[in-house]
Amino acid sequence: MSGRDGRIARLFRTWLPRTPRESSEAVVRNMWLHAFPARITKRSLSWLATGWLGTISLHLFLVLCLTGVVLMFLYVPSVERAYSSVKDIEYVVSFGSWIRGTHRVSAHLMVIAVVLHLVRVFLTGAYKKQGAPGSNRPLNWCVGIVLLILTMGLSFTGYLLPWDQLAYWAVTVGAQIAASAPVIGEQIREILLGGTVVGQPTLLRFYVLHCFVLPLLTFFLVFWHMWRIRKDGGLAVADRVADDAREQAAITPPPAGKTYTLMGKTQGGTVQSSSPAGLLQESTTPSVPAIPRRSTAIFLAVLAVCSLLGLFIHAPLEEPANPAVTPNPAKAPWYFLWLQELVSILTFRVGNFIVDGAFVGGILVPTILIGLLAAWPFIDKSPAAAAGVWFHSSRKVQNRVFLAIILATVVLTIIGTFFRGPYWAWVWPWDSSHAHPTIT
Ligand code: HEM
Repeated sequence: MSGRDGRIARLFRTWLPRTPRESSEAVVRNMWLHAFPARITKRSLSWLATGWLGTISLHLFLVLCLTGVVLMFLYVPSVERAYSSVKDIEYVVSFGSWIRGTHRVSAHLMVIAVVLHLVRVFLTGAYKKQGAPGSNRPLNWCVGIVLLILTMGLSFTGYLLPWDQLAYWAVTVGAQIAASAPVIGEQIREILLGGTVVGQPTLLRFYVLHCFVLPLLTFFLVFWHMWRIRKDGGLAVADRVADDAREQAAITPPPAGKTYTLMGKTQGGTVQSSSPAGLLQESTTPSVPAIPRRSTAIFLAVLAVCSLLGLFIHAPLEEPANPAVTPNPAKAPWYFLWLQELVSILTFRVGNFIVDGAFVGGILVPTILIGLLAAWPFIDKSPAAAAGVWFHSSRKVQNRVFLAIILATVVLTIIGTFFRGPYWAWVWPWDSSHAHPTIT
């Protein structure tokens, strides 16, 4: 087949390769498979190596795009119509509540999956620079940090769109925290809101960011992220496979009992000896069909889980946004509640001096944490041989500190979600007297 037909066939190739050679050819010829190397280490495919959390994050993003496009057909980004269009989706449109629930559940799961992916990469030290030419894992780690910020941004901008009390006040709280940044805080708030309060310009900005700018940025960055993995010589765990092969080749004696003769003239010992290349060949497998098959299975599983959860967990819809009625407490979205908790803990008075918790908890702490994360590949002095290894002994202290910080954010998020009532006072989760009124 040649020309146009050939190109179309290459987009939708349906056959399965039968030999390693055909597998390699599939990668070379098919545009979609170009991102894969011809062979991949079997260990990179294992669940224990990565949990496939990056792939799960990617597929959650795809489910979000699919369900989001359907919602876009029905949603109207104006303060007069936004709430009623979401109410229609929820109560009038066939399957509307299910699509909305699936979108919401996938958004929450994506935040969780991306954070777990970051934790996995950190604990395996997979951000370390390796010797391979062109490899730059620290760069890919930093691309990952931007993806984390984009994931939060996607979720936060989507939060305002239903234009209910929950949305309005969560964004108001978020904008207040942003405004506490020194010097440029007010300007940030104004750029974010398109004014000093949440209104029509804010809704339009959040809509454009949520439906176009952030998804496009995420898409291109994910593409770059995956391409970098290829440029970095595969996952960090693959480097350990190469090391193991070299080590084994050095210690494995040549297999006994094999002899050769040179056309019957000269007899001698074996010519077969273990070579790193041979052992490496044994520990790898053609990436096609292994990766597309696994990736498709993960996509279907992610879609099934999200749509099942979307059936049972309905996205909330409170009363319409009302700037005159401030809910008490006004809470940020759940993934920012650890910050809101910090804001409340760190606001206190020392004599006449009031410590500004909004600045410390809302700006300083997250900026330091993100800065530290970005710089970590250069601060971590563990040996290159520790990259790709879970809980390597050379990273014991840093792993403990990292896990303690993650644990603290989880505990603060749980407290902020379930244990805070009016005036941010402590309440028990089973005390329902302070629950927000929800339209049913
Ligand atoms: C939208 C968010 C993200 C997506 C879709 C994504 C996707 C992926 C995928 C598919 C992989 C291959 C391994 C795997 O499946 O686990 C991967 C690896 C990697 N990711 Fe991400 N990622 C995201 C966010 C992040 C974040 C937040 C970080 C860290 C700050 C990060 C850092 C890395 C690094 C360093 C690797 C290479 C790991 C290794 O060599 O073992 N990624 N990512």
